[in-house]
Amino acid sequence: MTRRRRIYEGKAKVLFEGPEPGTLVQYFKDDATAFHNQKHGIITGKGVLNNRISEYLMTKLGEIGVPTHFVRRLNMREQLVREVEIIPIELVVRNVAAGSLSKRFGIPEGTQLPRSIMEYYYKSDELNDPIVSEEHITAFGWATPQDLDDMMALSLRINDYLSGLFLGIGLKLVDFKVEFGRLWENDEMRIVLADEISPDNCRLWDVKTNQKLDKDRFREDLGRVEEAYQEVARRLGILPEGGVDTFNTPKPAP
Ligand code: TMP
Ligand code: ASP
Repeated sequence: MTRRRRIYEGKAKVLFEGPEPGTLVQYFKDDATAFHNQKHGIITGKGVLNNRISEYLMTKLGEIGVPTHFVRRLNMREQLVREVEIIPIELVVRNVAAGSLSKRFGIPEGTQLPRSIMEYYYKSDELNDPIVSEEHITAFGWATPQDLDDMMALSLRINDYLSGLFLGIGLKLVDFKVEFGRLWENDEMRIVLADEISPDNCRLWDVKTNQKLDKDRFREDLGRVEEAYQEVARRLGILPEGGVDTFNTPKPAP
């Protein structure tokens, strides 16, 4: 890896001190966990692909005016990001019933929801990320009503944009999870998109076959996990010929 100071290690990523103040290096691991750390595995090449996929999606979102922590990709497994104060809330946006929503309400997977539904989960490994309401979030001071307004507005734009982007490559954006952080510039605070956007935290189904091309292949032991991540990158047009090994080559001028 590197000899930089390790700031934080999560289940799928490591954060190192960045080359200049206010920056961090985000390193993408191949490790995968599911069901609150009960299931562990390695998805070979996942870190490389998620680094590339998240770079691509965050860059596109930046272009439509969604502020993000992303600065630039450094190499196969690392990207430079702005250091933010992470808001301890996972915001899930759902378009189609799946996963825990299907289980909680007994709605068959694949049912189109009447409208997009947003949910909040409190980020806590010890508590297994419990679902929480706006009341809990504001009463316990995890985020202010203004923070939540900003997060909801950004998530709606992210959902609209990414749903269209994925539909254009034959993928249905069933649901996804995002995290936000507070970025301080002088005395001004902005809420920005942080963490990553990848098949680890999105559900992506092939439009024609409903085949799952995301981490559910790992969660549900469906096999061909690596291929699913590669297929998403391939459809986005960011998987070079020859697979993931050629990611290190310099990027051509745009
Ligand atoms: P869920 O149906 O299991 O609640 O997941 C909803 C979405 O959020 C799905 O796209 C996977 C993503 N997710 C994460 O990124 N991290 C998590 O810890 C969980 C539980 C879900
Ligand atoms: N990442 C979470 C965990 O390991 C859950 C998931 O993505 O399914 O617990």
